[in-house]
Amino acid sequence: MNRPTQQVYENYTPHDFAVWETLFNRQMPLLKDTASNEYLEAHKTIKFSPNRIPDFREVNTIVGNLTGWNLHVVPCISPQKDFFQLLSQKKFTATCWLRTMEQLDYLEEPDMFHDVFGHVPLLTNTSYCDFFKGISTIALEHIENPLAVELLGKIYWFTIEFGLIREHGKKKIYGAGIMSSFGEVKHCLGDKVTHVDFDVEKIFSTNYRNDQMQNLYYVIDSYEQLYNSLDEINTGLRKRIKASKPIGI
Ligand SMILES: [Fe+2]
Repeated sequence: MNRPTQQVYENYTPHDFAVWETLFNRQMPLLKDTASNEYLEAHKTIKFSPNRIPDFREVNTIVGNLTGWNLHVVPCISPQKDFFQLLSQKKFTATCWLRTMEQLDYLEEPDMFHDVFGHVPLLTNTSYCDFFKGISTIALEHIENPLAVELLGKIYWFTIEFGLIREHGKKKIYGAGIMSSFGEVKHCLGDKVTHVDFDVEKIFSTNYRNDQMQNLYYVIDSYEQLYNSLDEINTGLRKRIKASKPIGI
């Protein structure tokens, strides 16, 4: 399917607006008491609304003024090198098309409800952004090494996509993969899953499935903790790369 490579706001149909409104209105009541305060506050800052599909020009102005980050429209998931290169320039790759009403709960690839509703609010947080950029710098350094890419993929998965944060003694959601999922919001805070304190080495050793809801989530104490873990991530990565090389090489 041909996906747009730039956002032409006039091209959104009444069906698109209805989908955005439906997704928004069923997700927000769930997130009210379960999402990170930073995320919820950012909704107001970015002026997200159920009645209006976000206009990337407006979002870029607001987010750009706060952290220097911008949205870079892509038609679909980018090749890893392109993705990290854009991140290193403070450009977050986002789609600008929406699923249909028949696809509310299942999509094979991320649309703008995931990319924008899920990811963009925390691009207003400096520590989160610096972590994101730091990950891209490490990734570009090791982009030709499949083990490094796999390990960084785990870090990305258990933080940016499926991370939880402790706020005032309660576990809250900050991962975009949970934010945009109707089912996973309740699931991730329920008693059928395991919560583990954020630990780089443990994440390196944890496998995940991308075709079902997670059964294990890592919990951070602050966004600064993410940023402060970059050195440990880089050191741990180098150690594992070295250990994986045959002796004598
Ligand atoms: Fe995502």
